[in-house]
Amino acid sequence: MFSKLAPLQRFAVLSRGAHSSVASATSVATKKKIQTGCPPTSDYIFERESKCGAHNYHPLPVALERGKCIFLWDVEGRKYFDFLSSYSAVNQGHCHPKIVNALKSQGKKLTLTSRAFYNNVLGEYEEYITKLFNYHKVLPMNTGMEAGETACKLAHKWGYTVKGIQKYKAKVIFAAGNFWGRTFSAISSSTDLTSYDGFGPFMPGFDVIPCNDLPALESAFQNPNVAAFMVEPIQGEAGVVPDPGYLMGVHQDLYIADEIQTGRWLAVDHENVRPDIVLLGKALSGVLWDDDIMLTIKPGERGSTYGGNPLGCQVTIAALEVLEEENLAENTEKKWELLNAIVIKETKDCDAWNVCLRLQDYGLLAKPTCGDIISELINKAILAF
Ligand SMILES: Cc1ncc(COP(=O)(O)O)c(C=O)c1O
Repeated sequence: MFSKLAPLQRFAVLSRGAHSSVASATSVATKKKIQTGCPPTSDYIFERESKCGAHNYHPLPVALERGKCIFLWDVEGRKYFDFLSSYSAVNQGHCHPKIVNALKSQGKKLTLTSRAFYNNVLGEYEEYITKLFNYHKVLPMNTGMEAGETACKLAHKWGYTVKGIQKYKAKVIFAAGNFWGRTFSAISSSTDLTSYDGFGPFMPGFDVIPCNDLPALESAFQNPNVAAFMVEPIQGEAGVVPDPGYLMGVHQDLYIADEIQTGRWLAVDHENVRPDIVLLGKALSGVLWDDDIMLTIKPGERGSTYGGNPLGCQVTIAALEVLEEENLAENTEKKWELLNAIVIKETKDCDAWNVCLRLQDYGLLAKPTCGDIISELINKAILAF
């Protein structure tokens, strides 16, 4: 197993971008333009964000204003292919009419009730999504990292109440190269220096084993305190597609699949695997599992003000219906063999960031992940159309 302090990943120093290239104060010319009623320019937008927003992202220097299908337009009216599709969160295409209609019609009726009461949409969504993915129950969340947190909590609870792990000794095992967000829990299992360096001490009880290494998993589970193994069927950030047979070779309980970026309905479907817990991220954000595990969670032990809100539920149903009706998963599957990420061999003058800047000049938006990887370059949304 790796120790968190081991230097596991190199990360690129990003060389050019909006945050580093703009002055912190809005320029006089830009201010003048705004005062005279001209719509904000890209430069103004870069400057304003740089001045008022945290610098926790490093965006490409493009200020987007409108999206339709696979296209985006910036504030100066330049049109781009969206080859990122918000890291797969808008795989149905930007502003899909069916999804927009669901948003509008539910938005006029009821948006949020909290889970203090029942509402007439939550159950409809729960029934739809559990039937679709063939699990007994769903616990809706708002983000992928909350789904991961939920799974870890649940693994602990199951470990204590079902497996008989000694109280507060539970461990969760992760595959190296994982990415499930940047909360304390998520960075405590991360092997990416960029996300964890400088933020310790880390959460205890998380161990990391090499990805694609079934013997390492076997040996980790010799420890009776291990409650679960959490793995991404495809490591989007690290750009790793597990070796054939790896996902199928995991037999340990609990098996948690962090399903965020998939080529079929679920990426584990490629190996006909049914994990104990499935994490759905992005637009679907929630956790699926069967009664024997789910019912260990009791009222008050996990929740969220927005999770399961009627607006989100109705949009989720519409988004999933679009996937079904337009055969998007099948279309993606047909093209699955195509390139999904490009690894750039960095030179002094050229890295993935520079490649993305050049692509932008040619009207194509993509984004590096781990410095040298441009993931989703041939993106599922685009494949699907
Ligand atoms: C595999 C995986 N898990 C979890 C997350 C975190 O999702 P969110 O940003 O919705 O919290 C991501 C985000 O990209 C992801 O790729």
